[in-house]
Amino acid sequence: MNGCNLIIIGGEGDLALRKLYPAMCSLDNEGLLSDGVRIYCFGRGKFSEDDFHAEVARWIEASEYTDTMSEEVTARFHSRLVHIVGDATDANCFRDLAGRLPAEDRVIYLSTPPSIFPPICRAIDEANFVNDDTRIVVEKPLGESRASFEEIDGFVKSVFAEEQIYRIDHYLGKETVQNLLALRFANVLFEPLWNRNFIDHVQITVAESIGVGGRWKFYDGAGALRDMVQNHLLQLLCLVSMEPPAKNQPDFVRDEKLKVLRCLKPMEETSVSDVTIRGQYVGGHIQSEAVPGYLEESDATADKSDTETFVAIKAELENSRWQGVPFYLRTGKRLPTKYSEIVIQFKPVVHRFFKNSSGRVPDNQLVIRLQPREGIELSLINKVPGLSGQTRLQGAALDLSFDQAFEAHRSPSAYERLLLDVIRADQTLFMRSDEICASWEWVDVILDCWEKTGQPVLNYPAGAWGPIEAVDLLAQDRRRWFNWNA
Ligand code: BG6
Repeated sequence: MNGCNLIIIGGEGDLALRKLYPAMCSLDNEGLLSDGVRIYCFGRGKFSEDDFHAEVARWIEASEYTDTMSEEVTARFHSRLVHIVGDATDANCFRDLAGRLPAEDRVIYLSTPPSIFPPICRAIDEANFVNDDTRIVVEKPLGESRASFEEIDGFVKSVFAEEQIYRIDHYLGKETVQNLLALRFANVLFEPLWNRNFIDHVQITVAESIGVGGRWKFYDGAGALRDMVQNHLLQLLCLVSMEPPAKNQPDFVRDEKLKVLRCLKPMEETSVSDVTIRGQYVGGHIQSEAVPGYLEESDATADKSDTETFVAIKAELENSRWQGVPFYLRTGKRLPTKYSEIVIQFKPVVHRFFKNSSGRVPDNQLVIRLQPREGIELSLINKVPGLSGQTRLQGAALDLSFDQAFEAHRSPSAYERLLLDVIRADQTLFMRSDEICASWEWVDVILDCWEKTGQPVLNYPAGAWGPIEAVDLLAQDRRRWFNWNA
């Protein structure tokens, strides 16, 4: 059982209601919270006490966890919640709170826009609220460039030591993302092949069918590169390509990820348009339903914008394991369906033994399906049964669906995993400051090249796989995108 006093600043906000309370309630349901756990929910007073509990109940009810949850558990969970109306930028708030809490196991979750991290950190500091055991959790968007990240991070670091800071990238909390480490480092099969000698290229796709409606203004200042690539896609790239860490401990893992980020080949103005594609959706259809374009979203505040809602990038790592192996990254809104997957495309066999085989035989491929239908598929080449004089070969997949293979086990959500790790003070799945700096550095160069070269944002109809030029990005290398999970 795990104890803690969780203080959620922004406790009446969207993230807290949609993700944090349902995930904590699920941990309670699993028997993972000790009796003493309390959750202090700081808000500006948007809800009365009764309305606040009703809202929390509504979101728990709407969550994916309700199947196994009894009324007794939800009642116990509500008794852990302390709704506090106050101003978290005022040190007196934390002074009052300090009098009500034990000094141990304080976890502060900043579920607010980063623009108010500085006054909140100042108030926490002035109130002497922090001791060696206190932890702080922060969420993206952590800056819009390396410089603005360092500024925000500087305020947090002026009050908390690196070992106390938990920077969330919720992709790292996904069960299948963690399984990548098990796949690579707990099996003897893959590691010897995991390099430029055997791997032709890697594709990482994070596709979404939703648009940006509802948060247009924020998104228009960010775009897909900052919103998705700088964090989620680069973290996936790190886990796929890093060297085996010597130990399964936070800094051993994070050191290896940092090395990958530092090996990313910087973009150049002269070639950026050959290796990156920017797109923006216009009106179209997704599963036969008409959907508006980016500039027609109901909360759009401009009739012109060059913010990309889709990006495809050919990234390269300059190190001896991966030299010459392209990592094609692609993410976008209003694509035909929501799915995330990693495809490892192996090279052809060196000596073509089956010279007479008819037709083109695909090369081996490993597909790691992150969502939905989490699982792993390994395509192997087989002889098609039959008496024909010519051996016919065909690829067939060994398909491991986690749902079926681990039927008896529930797959916890990313926030359950991450909240539990904060409570247990395990930083492995959280990003270190130097990792974020390194990924911003790479992204900053792309943004700079785009600006200097005026690289256009190409339209694509909602429901397409981005602009047609994204297909050409691979076609020019005689490759194509695979949409296995779609
Ligand atoms: C968030 C982005 O970090 O990730 C959103 O800000 C995006 O734009 C979301 O929709 C995707 O997360 P998931 O878990 O739904 O794939």
